[in-house]
Amino acid sequence: MGRFSPKTLDLDGKVILVTGGTGSFGRRFIETVLRRSAPRKVIVYSRDELKQSDMQLELREQFDEATYAKLRFFLGDVRDRERLTLALRGVDIVIHAAALKQVPAAEYNPSECIHTNVLGAENVVWASLNNHVKQVVALSTDKACNPINLYGATKLASDKTFVAANNLSGDIGTRFAVVRYGNVVGSRGSVVPLYKRLLGQGATELPVTDARMTRFWITLNQGVEFVLSSLEIMRGGEIFVPKIPSMTMPDLVKAMSPDVGVKIVGIRPGEKLHEMMISADDARATVELADRYVIEPTFVEYPRKPFRGEAGTKDVAEGFSYSSDSNDDWLSEDGLNAMLAEKA
Ligand SMILES: NC(=O)c1ccc[n+]([C@@H]2O[C@H](COP(=O)([O-])OP(=O)(O)OC[C@H]3O[C@@H](n4cnc5c(N)ncnc54)[C@H](OP(=O)(O)O)[C@@H]3O)[C@@H](O)[C@H]2O)c1
Repeated sequence: MGRFSPKTLDLDGKVILVTGGTGSFGRRFIETVLRRSAPRKVIVYSRDELKQSDMQLELREQFDEATYAKLRFFLGDVRDRERLTLALRGVDIVIHAAALKQVPAAEYNPSECIHTNVLGAENVVWASLNNHVKQVVALSTDKACNPINLYGATKLASDKTFVAANNLSGDIGTRFAVVRYGNVVGSRGSVVPLYKRLLGQGATELPVTDARMTRFWITLNQGVEFVLSSLEIMRGGEIFVPKIPSMTMPDLVKAMSPDVGVKIVGIRPGEKLHEMMISADDARATVELADRYVIEPTFVEYPRKPFRGEAGTKDVAEGFSYSSDSNDDWLSEDGLNAMLAEKA
């Protein structure tokens, strides 16, 4: 159990559906839930049959027969509202992790990214309301804050869709919240596996786009725990942001391999020098808890008790923003190596 772990969350008997259940996050989330609790059913919802059958083979090895029998593998696209509506019958909790997330691919194929990330989000909202789902947590990214690339812009549109959905829910009472965090060490398509591969091939230099670049870092397990604890404390309409450390990209290279050089290759289209999770404008709606920030909804027409003013919370300072360069928590080499040592 880590610092983001839920305190009393009880998922026993619940039916949980994870969109993007075969992805880096979804896989780890499902393994964690199956290991720790006794849900009635866990449904994977994603498109590619091969990823699903690989996951089936691997989880059958990891779990006993009774636990494995709780799993359902639903082929489907979040763009397909009818299919999603069918998949969500009888579901209590939805974790929405399906997304297109590669910045360059999104720049080149904007409409594909909009269809999956924005229309997909709207479909998740509709299908959840129509099936009287109780709680929905959608995954977001630091790139959604003051976005400069299409991927970030679609995730901001998705965040807004989920936050606003609480106002649509009326007597149904479905509650929607968002979790926003930074780079996941070791997730599919991220820089750490790329560096590992290059080092394995004997590289003497690793590419860094700009020596000043900083990023927020979180492990997959921390991401999963953070989603679980956000599910536990959500009231509807929040964007939950974990307090996590930053590191410069050259320091990341040094921590991964002290003897290797850094090759500056120039900032890529759509890339920021530093990432932000809470802008100064969002800060007015932000409260601070011990392990996270909560951006509270500002347009609330449903019963909701704000976090602001409760014991254990405090207001952030005037003009506060949460950015990877002005963060006061910096990752040391040892800290990064401990994160890298976590099961990939
Ligand atoms: N990885 C990071 O560093 C990071 C950081 C911050 C936030 N996030 C967010 O965390 C979430 C999960 O990321 P991840 O790293 O687990 O991504 P991932 O490994 O790329 O997994 C994406 C999942 O979504 C599914 N998917 C993609 N398009 C779909 C569609 N149209 N319909 C249904 N399923 C679809 C994929 O399976 P199929 O291709 O088979 O459909 C896969 O299961 C995303 O929302 C991402 O934006 C990730």
